[in-house]
Amino acid sequence: MTTTSPLINLHAYESAAAECLPRMVFDYFAGGAGDEVLLRTARAAWDDIAVRYRVLRDVAVRSQRTELLGHTLDWPVLVAPMAFQQLAHADGELACARAADATGTGMILSTLATQPIEAVRAATQGPLWFQLYIFRDRGLTEALVRRAEQAGCTALVLTVDAPLLGRRERDLINGFHVPADTPLPNVSAVPRDALAQRVETASSLAAFAERHWDASIAWADLEWLRSITQVPILVKGIVRGDDADRALQHGAMGVIVSNHGGRQLDTALPTARALPEIAEAMAGRGALLVDGGIRRGTDVVKALALGAQAVLLGRPVLWGLAVDGAAGAQRVLQILKDECDLALALSGCRTPAEATPDLIVR
Ligand code: FNR
Ligand code: LAC
Repeated sequence: MTTTSPLINLHAYESAAAECLPRMVFDYFAGGAGDEVLLRTARAAWDDIAVRYRVLRDVAVRSQRTELLGHTLDWPVLVAPMAFQQLAHADGELACARAADATGTGMILSTLATQPIEAVRAATQGPLWFQLYIFRDRGLTEALVRRAEQAGCTALVLTVDAPLLGRRERDLINGFHVPADTPLPNVSAVPRDALAQRVETASSLAAFAERHWDASIAWADLEWLRSITQVPILVKGIVRGDDADRALQHGAMGVIVSNHGGRQLDTALPTARALPEIAEAMAGRGALLVDGGIRRGTDVVKALALGAQAVLLGRPVLWGLAVDGAAGAQRVLQILKDECDLALALSGCRTPAEATPDLIVR
């Protein structure tokens, strides 16, 4: 019998998930690329920012309400797109979407979700956006866009930091694969034999990505996507101001500053350090979100002060899902929401908008 700490913060959920998930699955969720330097520096970059809090500001009445792309969120955090959620719990994406909804926010559904877009849409009220990988087969990619539109997804999130899959050594060691009975109902037209094979010292997901994702995508393809849909597009995976500017020029409505949670290029720029340059380059011209290593309410406040309108939360939601399905995922989100409220109050902010650049020191 092992003992875990009480589930009072997001770190405790990670430890608890490590105990209840099969090793191959936990490592796939938790791991990063290469030496996992970026997993550490991503966290450290948030920790290295100090809050220059304001005092005597009457914070008795507060609101975390956030307007984003035409949606009103109860707080400035959304659930990041993450693949294969039924590997964590049978209720998969439905559970995470319900958890997001219950805390007054929305979710981004991965192309590699294990539940149908329509079912996730039907189960929730909150914003549902669809994360898109562009496949070599453009007909199939376009059909996926149509399906997301018809299901009622109100934004498309084009992930651009993964033309190929990062080299994730935990997955190589474990021979990571996705069992053939794990559904991928949104991409059923993509042959998935590569995914199910357990190959020693290889990742079946890397093989699948190499075979089916289009590594040739370039800025012109963002324009192509723009030309086939009216749904707003966000570009996810940007760490440079010039790329953020290009994204807007090629038709995006905003960007998500992200390095895929350290799973792609190890030693890439931590998002907390990339954000100021990108906020400056965008100069308020579009939606600006950030993710990567956000684990505390204070991290969210720092992201807001650096210019983000909202953040995405990744792995901790999976830890909650693994521990206790929708209730666990909801608890994780509620913990962060409460931390966020307290962090804003103790910083002297009554609203997210009051978290301005002067609030922090880097
Ligand atoms: C991801 N991420 C991701 N991103 C994406 O655009 N499409 C995807 O299918 C996935 N899949 C995925 C699976 C798993 C298990 C993880 C952990 C992550 C990246 C994700 O959206 C996000 O950028 C990071 O996870 C954010 O960092 P944190 O909060 O996990 O540190
Ligand atoms: C990942 C892919 C699926 O990070 O985005 O595992």
